[in-house]
Amino acid sequence: MVVAIVPAAGLGTRLNAPLPKQFLPLRNRPLIVRTLQAIENVPEITAAVVAIPEGYAAQLRHLCSEYQLSKVRRIVVGGATRQDSVAQALQAEEVRQAAYVVIHDAVRPLAPCWLFQRVLEAARQYGAAVPGLAPTDTVKEITANGIICRTLQRERLRLIQTPQAFRRELLEQAYRAAAQCGWEGTDDAALVEALGHAVAVVEGAPENIKITYPLDLIVAEHLLEQA
Ligand code: C5P
Repeated sequence: MVVAIVPAAGLGTRLNAPLPKQFLPLRNRPLIVRTLQAIENVPEITAAVVAIPEGYAAQLRHLCSEYQLSKVRRIVVGGATRQDSVAQALQAEEVRQAAYVVIHDAVRPLAPCWLFQRVLEAARQYGAAVPGLAPTDTVKEITANGIICRTLQRERLRLIQTPQAFRRELLEQAYRAAAQCGWEGTDDAALVEALGHAVAVVEGAPENIKITYPLDLIVAEHLLEQA
């Protein structure tokens, strides 16, 4: 059984919007609905657990019935960080019964079905898998004062997206280890890497953008228009 965890508990301050960005409309449909519909369309995923900010449960429940999002089986209140929100979702009964967990940010509404399937297939083989894209810009490491220390070798770099897929027991072990030493990663794979376990990278989808800044909403609207 494969269960999806959708961290949707951020407040999205970088968008300067009155609502958390995952509840903003994207071509007349809330962004989170588009993300959950993408998950709804993946046959391998049987259920979804969504972490939301305090006070948004009724709104999400209403959206689930309006858009017939039947895979959303549990809504949990997230934590102060994304990692805390995923940790809350990991406690859900639905997740504890799963062999594999796919974690997908609520703010990536354009992930295609094949991307979920691709990471899941790799996770079944390696235990953990993430999608990544080769950067087209040159990437440099800088000092705190904005001076370049070094130029990274671009061929070996990947910009990592979600969905990220894991064998459930491995992911739980990674979250337990991170909690014990108080370590915070910027994605779920980082916690598995910290265990010393291999994480496979599969080719990501360029259209699978993360809505972070106002420009991202404009790009997403255009991409949806083309679809
Ligand atoms: O803030 P950022 O864009 O990196 O968030 C990525 C995802 O993690 C978003 O879907 C956001 O709602 C979620 N998140 C969360 N709990 C937090 C912070 C972010 O579930 N405390």
